[in-house]
Amino acid sequence: MTRTPLIAGNWKMNTTIDEAISLIKTMQPQLHKIQGVEKVLCPPFVSLMVARGITKGSSVKLGAQNVFYEEKGAFTGEISPLMLAGLCEYVIVGHSERRQYFGETNEVIDKKIKAAIKAGLKPIFCVGETLEENEAGQTREVLGRQLIDSSDRFYFLSGCVIAYEPIWAIGTGRSASGDDASRTIGFIRQFVSRQHGSGIANSVRILYGGSVNAANIAEFMRKPDIDGALVGGASLKADEFVSIVKQASDIKGV
Ligand code: PGA
Repeated sequence: MTRTPLIAGNWKMNTTIDEAISLIKTMQPQLHKIQGVEKVLCPPFVSLMVARGITKGSSVKLGAQNVFYEEKGAFTGEISPLMLAGLCEYVIVGHSERRQYFGETNEVIDKKIKAAIKAGLKPIFCVGETLEENEAGQTREVLGRQLIDSSDRFYFLSGCVIAYEPIWAIGTGRSASGDDASRTIGFIRQFVSRQHGSGIANSVRILYGGSVNAANIAEFMRKPDIDGALVGGASLKADEFVSIVKQASDIKGV
């Protein structure tokens, strides 16, 4: 089963519209040339429209960083899946920063994923454990809960991607080792297999995220079970992000 690698850049709450334009214009021609890997940029909502204009006709795809689960109505400040459909292909759902700072529960995340899929978006569904949970040996239990509470067979048939992001590795400069990430991602794949069968488990893409950079991406891409990366800080540096995508393509491009 060949899974096309995916490298997604999560810009988080960074870049003004002008900065986003400049960053995309710098990266886009170089990213476009790199084949065999899906390349996804996730700028802030307000820059998606201009980003779409710049990336139109190129192989660079777009994603949003969040979505609400209702289609429309009195939900001041929220963005619905219908607003994103046609603007981007992917949407990050359940990022640990959303869980931590905005109180998103597995139940809310489940609703968001279903609503996103219904609108034709592909979710990048984030799971991961805290440092305390990791040190207490609870990683598998926590991931199992996140996966059971919000993981429908229907997700994976609709192109949903899983991103394993240990919370202690996000933005800290302390990534998981390739071996540890691979072991945990292998566990996630087995878990999906037990729940939904080996066909789905072998086709779902599972990314690693947490302090990925140009110096460590190769270590992750060399692991058979790791299908790419969700990159935060390093995706804001054009040269570094291009290098990450290039290495992913060299190692595992299809
Ligand atoms: P980081 O963020 O690469 O800056 O650690 C990853 C993420 O939060 O998706």
